[in-house]
Amino acid sequence: MSHEILKALGLGSEQSGTYLGQGEWSKTTDAGALQPVNPATGEVIATVHASSAADYEIIVKRAQEAFKVWRSTPAPQRGEAVRLCGEALRKHKDALGSLVALEMGKIKPEGDGEVQEMIDIADFAVGQSRMLYGYTMHSERPGHRMYEQYQPLGLVGIISAFNFPVAVWAWNAFLATVCGDICIWKPSPKTPLSAIASMKACNEALRAAGFPDLFFMFNDAGTDLSQGFVDDKRIPLISFTGSTKVGRMVGERVAQRMGRSLLELGGNNAIIVDDSADLKLAIPAIVFGAVGTAGQRCTSTRRLFVHESIHDEVVETLVKAYAQVESKIGDPTQATTLMGPLNSKDAVSAYLAAVEKAKANGGNVRTGGKALSDRPGNFVLPTIVTGLKNSDEVVQTETFAPILYVMPFKTLDDAIELQNSVPQGLSSAIFTQNLKVAEQYLSAAGSDCGIANVNIGTSGAEIGGAFGGEKETGGGRESGSDAWKVYMRRQTNTINYSNALPLAQGIKFDL
Ligand code: UN1
Repeated sequence: MSHEILKALGLGSEQSGTYLGQGEWSKTTDAGALQPVNPATGEVIATVHASSAADYEIIVKRAQEAFKVWRSTPAPQRGEAVRLCGEALRKHKDALGSLVALEMGKIKPEGDGEVQEMIDIADFAVGQSRMLYGYTMHSERPGHRMYEQYQPLGLVGIISAFNFPVAVWAWNAFLATVCGDICIWKPSPKTPLSAIASMKACNEALRAAGFPDLFFMFNDAGTDLSQGFVDDKRIPLISFTGSTKVGRMVGERVAQRMGRSLLELGGNNAIIVDDSADLKLAIPAIVFGAVGTAGQRCTSTRRLFVHESIHDEVVETLVKAYAQVESKIGDPTQATTLMGPLNSKDAVSAYLAAVEKAKANGGNVRTGGKALSDRPGNFVLPTIVTGLKNSDEVVQTETFAPILYVMPFKTLDDAIELQNSVPQGLSSAIFTQNLKVAEQYLSAAGSDCGIANVNIGTSGAEIGGAFGGEKETGGGRESGSDAWKVYMRRQTNTINYSNALPLAQGIKFDL
């Protein structure tokens, strides 16, 4: 089955993980290998040969050459290149979605949904290619014109995570490409095949249409190449998605060389359910947010604050809903499955350690709390814990697994205060039918997160909005709205079309 999916995408059981441009995949076989594992079975899917330092140098040099051509290509033509990528992804959507499900472990509809996010951002970027707008200003001096323009930045480095192995690349790469940049991608070592297949599909479409090299990729068997990448002055922007711990390192090192970084780090997302909430909406949103992708989205719902008057009722209802999910845990590539495995054995250990910590702190495991040892793969039960405090360390920490901490609140002010009292600030939501409550939640004194929703959950953001968060989430914004600006350098231009040289601020400098 796994071989059929690979074959449909033109991949084999031995694969080069390095796209050097010019239609070439590196022949390097002595720089180590990655062996992505099917998280549902524990079996190695294929061997991916990692990149050498020499490969990396070739990539950067070719990317620099390509940039010289691409920066002067009109932006709408750049948009046409991205349109072709979107078409290629549409063609391969089913197989790519299956590969994402196979390699990452998310269920097939979520794998397909991830490929759909790539297609959507491609469409968005095509439109954006005709809208790289800057302001014009009225000069304080006569006979002068002022305006600003956005110019291509150069090479963009993209380091993506296993949980969204391809969509996050596309969010960055397609916008950067219409902005005139050339992208170099270092995908997660856990999901190189999905990355290779997406690159292949896009690059083949671009080459067939005569476009130059726009996308490059390397895979690192260790961390040396990746660290060199982060420190590489030839790459003005590093976009990093991953843990806060690694993101802090990336941010510091890029800042050290005065580069630009775009950080999408951890979340510790909460839903507030007030006493007026429509539970027909709230319950499925909570279950999808906490259990979807087996709790491995950075937007997954990890904390739930429920008004004390309905706390017990909501917990009971959730426990029943979780029982339904439990009966549909299994092979993520099967249509009936609702929850797949965690991506790695380490993730199972982190899940079990969090459950133990929660219990030691006096938490009640209302459902779940166990790994499924009756089968191969990294399966765990979705878990609900009550009786903890928001300030408990385990609640303050993002565990990338389906664990939901439920806590009661008395007043809206308390709920907002609790929601905001974590180091992270990515996504948040409130369920209420009270307009005043909703507006207060979205006011300056409300949610402090990059994403704040009313009557929809924390996960599953559309590509049209800017995606990212505050505090230890890293502050970056990618995807929709005006996120394109980070991939360009901004320039203010003043043109004097008069015969005089008036100075600004009324200064006289008589010679
Ligand atoms: C992530 O988990 O890294 O909002 C990204 C969502 C998805 C993207 C999540 N559109 O859940």
